[in-house]
Amino acid sequence: MPDGLNVDYDGLIPNNVGLADDARVRKALETWHPGYIGWWHDMGPEGFQDALVYLRTAVSVDPKGWAKFGFVKMPDYKWGVLLAPAVEGRTIPFGRHRGEAVWQEVPGEYRAMLRRLLVIQGDTEPASVEQQRHLGATAPSLYDLRNLFQVNVEEGRHLWAMVYLLQKYFGRDGREEAEELLRRRSGHADTPRMLGAFNEATPDWLSFFMFTYFTDRDGKMQLEALAQSGFDPLSRTTRFMLTEEAHHMFVGESGVSRIVERSCEAMRAGGIDNPADTVRARALGVIDLPTIQRKINLHVSLTLDLFGNEISTNAANAFNAGIKGRYREDRLEDDHQLLDSTYPVLRCVAGRIVEEKVPALSALNMRLRDDFGADAAGGVGRWNKVIEKAGYAFRLTLPHVAFNRRIGEFAAIHADPAGRVLDAGAWSARQAEFLPSADDNLYIAALMKPVHGAGQFANWIAPPKAGVDGKPGSFEYVQIHA
Ligand SMILES: [Fe+2]
Ligand SMILES: [Fe+2]
Repeated sequence: MPDGLNVDYDGLIPNNVGLADDARVRKALETWHPGYIGWWHDMGPEGFQDALVYLRTAVSVDPKGWAKFGFVKMPDYKWGVLLAPAVEGRTIPFGRHRGEAVWQEVPGEYRAMLRRLLVIQGDTEPASVEQQRHLGATAPSLYDLRNLFQVNVEEGRHLWAMVYLLQKYFGRDGREEAEELLRRRSGHADTPRMLGAFNEATPDWLSFFMFTYFTDRDGKMQLEALAQSGFDPLSRTTRFMLTEEAHHMFVGESGVSRIVERSCEAMRAGGIDNPADTVRARALGVIDLPTIQRKINLHVSLTLDLFGNEISTNAANAFNAGIKGRYREDRLEDDHQLLDSTYPVLRCVAGRIVEEKVPALSALNMRLRDDFGADAAGGVGRWNKVIEKAGYAFRLTLPHVAFNRRIGEFAAIHADPAGRVLDAGAWSARQAEFLPSADDNLYIAALMKPVHGAGQFANWIAPPKAGVDGKPGSFEYVQIHA
């Protein structure tokens, strides 16, 4: 099988995995393809299927120059199967098989575990497209509209990535799972997506930027952990997905940053000295900083739930098996088996939040969640720099891990964003301080009006520092009436 850097665009399905010589898998993917296109038409970006969008398409998996840009109608996007190049002589980096040659086929004893991980990862990809499908109608600029669609087509490709693994390595059950991935629907009462955060609505652009900054970053952490896998095709798939994922988090970070920038600029120009003056900020038609903080609180708490239970035997089993590693396992210095080590975990004991040392193997979800927190703090710091530069004494923060949780230790208690435990009465009295209120959501919804003139931006968001692919911010990134 050729391990080319370059993508073969000759057949129906672009790929660098030698599909031309793999009749069985090619047929399975070609059989799945019409269902995928049908799903894209039904559940992909609403109202823009005929627009010409300036999108990047992968032409190679070489980190240098893997993408080319051009105008395409989204349903004609070249979704395909792309794996990062194989690493010569790679060995399993962790767990009980540490040091053995990586697997090119699924080890029978870990088949069920692997299939489950692929399906859960795969399910999130179309879910986010479904969640974001109405946003085109209210895009604050053509630049933002294009970025939304870029994220959407790449999440579609990530679904292809997981479906390829299911169909190539899991035979009939893989094909059935691939069908199910097209059948579930975000937020559907009977056939919802598998994970909570992927059934929430993404009703407005602030939510979209928060989602791509925080929830796509959960995706990054999961993909990083799978990129360490001893099952080499999974490692190679996720390594290439991570190059695309980086752009999604850039869209989120820069989107929030541009909102913060515009809010501060308008408040300064309007002579507002109190950065928390919601009423006066809103009178200027921008999003006040306390509301941005409440959106952070909501999206972070939903995203933390994706990391699962604090103490998890599933995570321990997947690590022992060599299937799912830690964030940057290959750069960590320890025994990579964690037989005798412990890890500090915040737990809920008799209604109080206490730190306990637990066996490191059972705390792997928490370790990944902590790595997520450290990673997410970077962008929050950069948002605060924007506020600081405008001369305002207001700081955005990540909420405490005990705040507003549905899964794990803290689902049983209420805590404020600083991690102080509250009784039920105090929680309901103060909830509107912490989480977006109906009023906040109505205000944001009222701002969401489409701006479709080239080079124009909605009043509540600053233009980007730079455009896409060396083009200016005023470039017509989406030709709506093609
Ligand atoms: Fe993705
Ligand atoms: Fe993503």
